[in-house]
Amino acid sequence: MEHTIKPATGKLGVLIVGLGGAVSTTFVAGTLAVRKGLAQPIGSLTQLATIRLGKREENKFPKIKDIIPLTALPDVVFGGWDIFAEDAYAAAIHAEVLDEKDLNGVKDELKSIRPMPAVFDQEWVKRLHGTHIKQEPTRWELAQAVRKDIQEFKKANGCDRIVVLWSASTEVYLPMGAAHQSLAVFEQAMKDNDCAAISPSMCYAYAAISEGCPYIMGAPNLCVDIPAMWELAAQKKVAICGKDYKTGQTMIKTVLSPMLKRLMLGLAGWFSTNILGNRDGEVLDDPDSFKTKEVSKLSVIDTILQPELYPELYGNIYHKVRINYYPPRKDNKEGWDNIDIIGWMGYPMQLKVDFLCRDSILAAPLCLDLVLFADLAQRAGMFGIQDWLSFYFKSPMHDFEHIPEHDLFIQYTKLKNTLRKMIGEETLDYID
Ligand SMILES: NC(=O)c1ccc[n+]([C@@H]2O[C@H](COP(=O)([O-])OP(=O)(O)OC[C@H]3O[C@@H](n4cnc5c(N)ncnc54)[C@H](O)[C@@H]3O)[C@@H](O)[C@H]2O)c1
Repeated sequence: MEHTIKPATGKLGVLIVGLGGAVSTTFVAGTLAVRKGLAQPIGSLTQLATIRLGKREENKFPKIKDIIPLTALPDVVFGGWDIFAEDAYAAAIHAEVLDEKDLNGVKDELKSIRPMPAVFDQEWVKRLHGTHIKQEPTRWELAQAVRKDIQEFKKANGCDRIVVLWSASTEVYLPMGAAHQSLAVFEQAMKDNDCAAISPSMCYAYAAISEGCPYIMGAPNLCVDIPAMWELAAQKKVAICGKDYKTGQTMIKTVLSPMLKRLMLGLAGWFSTNILGNRDGEVLDDPDSFKTKEVSKLSVIDTILQPELYPELYGNIYHKVRINYYPPRKDNKEGWDNIDIIGWMGYPMQLKVDFLCRDSILAAPLCLDLVLFADLAQRAGMFGIQDWLSFYFKSPMHDFEHIPEHDLFIQYTKLKNTLRKMIGEETLDYID
């Protein structure tokens, strides 16, 4: 069914929580460099990928950005919040992801982007000690302060629309509880300042959705993945999506697991370990924050392999994930996978993967696609959980009636078919 999509007129404000982080600064600097013609948007579907329209023999493969009414990069304005006050240039230098020569081309623009004071609580990210923090006494008042920030940013920058992206640190593990079950109890818990149930990230999400701004959760935080937020998103008709960018090791898992399953090869064990030395690695060195990440990383294999349907192949898998903080590597993560597979008549084999990646270089194009697609969904009137964006997430959000889809290629087909439907084109049942 074709959607009526409001045109992308005027400016799109992209407000990033964790503006000074490695991923955020790499995303912002790269986007500014691309729009000045100084860099290529490698890794971004919205900027580079094509989409087949019609029958194969028609040979119609336009670029997504030429056929889907996305916001153009020159219309994007960046802002956000961080617990440290340094501007985006100083933060990017600090993050040590991009070389100074690449940052210098957009130095003035980066210097002009300064974070607003953050909603922060040390209990939720134990390894960081922020200095640029809001002082409102309750979670409710903190959320109201963030709403005011959004309104003022929108006005000051002449924005037509705003999208809010969480690219800040992973909070400690929080299971869904009573305070999250409905909007009424959630709002009461905010007013009662129930700091154990309401995380700082929830204050940003509540504020964004209340202001009619799509909210994207790039970390594994529970945050927007609760019935109270789904209710608010439905009430305000706002698009939400998450959780946890799917970039390195987990992305590889969602490609290799379907391969094993398609070949009916068994799996005995999957041991994944990582070394990384950036601030994210330091935060994840805290066992409570690691627990949030671990849950997100572990969910993938079972959902793809369906051990309940194939007990002889996948009924007894040993799956382990480790992240080790190792400062010398900075943002250049190394992820090893040892995969013990089982072949004909039960004979064992092994697969080894050693991915020498750069965490923020992989995540930045996802941030760009997510903000442009979330804004598109919002203009198309698609509110609530955007499961067509599961392609980008380790733990795709889903309500109680749906199961998540983890297979990268099924996710990819769904993403493209949603785009086709939006513009009234026929869908395809295989990958183009
Ligand atoms: N490939 C990837 O890099 C990848 C993949 C999946 C998920 N993630 C997640 O993305 C997030 C960002 O990663 P990163 O490497 O940029 O981390 P980072 O530590 O470099 O950046 C996080 C930023 O958030 C800020 N911050 C923390 N709490 C905040 C709060 N309450 N309000 C505002 N700012 C706050 C920190 O000061 C820091 O500047 C992490 O949660 C990480 O787990 C990254």
